[in-house]
Amino acid sequence: MDRNLVGKVALVTGGASGIGRATAIEFARRGAAVVVADADATGGKETVSYIETNCDARAMFVGVDVTDAVSVEAMIRSTVEHFGALDMAFNNAGVPDRAASLHVSTQENWDRVMSVNLEGVWHCMKAELDQMLLAGKGAIVNNASRSGLVGVPSDGVYGAAKHGVVGLTKAAAIEFAGKGVRINAVCPGLVETALTRARFGDELAARAKLANPLGRMAQAEEIASAVVWLCSDAASFVVGVALPVDGGATAR
Ligand SMILES: NC(=O)c1ccc[n+]([C@@H]2O[C@H](COP(=O)([O-])OP(=O)(O)OC[C@H]3O[C@@H](n4cnc5c(N)ncnc54)[C@H](O)[C@@H]3O)[C@@H](O)[C@H]2O)c1
Repeated sequence: MDRNLVGKVALVTGGASGIGRATAIEFARRGAAVVVADADATGGKETVSYIETNCDARAMFVGVDVTDAVSVEAMIRSTVEHFGALDMAFNNAGVPDRAASLHVSTQENWDRVMSVNLEGVWHCMKAELDQMLLAGKGAIVNNASRSGLVGVPSDGVYGAAKHGVVGLTKAAAIEFAGKGVRINAVCPGLVETALTRARFGDELAARAKLANPLGRMAQAEEIASAVVWLCSDAASFVVGVALPVDGGATAR
């Protein structure tokens, strides 16, 4: 294992579960100190405890609601107070669309999906940029989705939020590239997590078979390795990409 992130500080929102947990663990395996931020304290503390026991790295849980700018600013303050810096951030906290179809989608579904999946990323980027611009360096990766690149039926509101994440990523990437902060997005295909189990239930295995040329779901670790690479110096010339990690789904 290449511990190329020793001495760096990483922040992962949605680090209590799924892709966020796998990414927090991968940052730690590579030597970074990790802030696991989530609305779910139980899951977040489990991620921290796993890191402390297995990864030879420091970790801390911070409770956050990414829909609340004040809570997000407090998360960044805690990060810097505790670990002295913020070098890498993965804005990953998200919720699934609950609508069976766009025309029966409710206002409540729209508000919830937009406030967590799009506005939450904006809040996080603002607070992270404040800190990274002071330091003159940093790397941010936003978690978009295959639904941020192409239209996915019955994922209309979710897809609108994720297309928004890609737009935010590209505009900010251009704006801040000359100031030492690299910003990119990952666009996962179907990944086996609590979110997809809640969204698709018993249909999940069948959907996964059809979803991409590999004919299977991704495991969260397969997304985590792309995120950690994008945050590392190995990706020093990669700016403003929305990287599909989708088993070839969007290549069709
Ligand atoms: N699983 C997939 O197939 C897939 C595919 C593409 C993109 N994504 C995206 O990946 C991200 C993570 O998804 P996952 O599948 O790991 O889901 P998950 O449900 O396992 O994890 C999501 C985490 O976000 C946290 N969270 C939700 N709302 C929050 C809030 N307001 N403030 C703070 N934390 C909050 C949850 O507590 C949870 O720990 C999401 O943005 C999702 O849209 C997932």
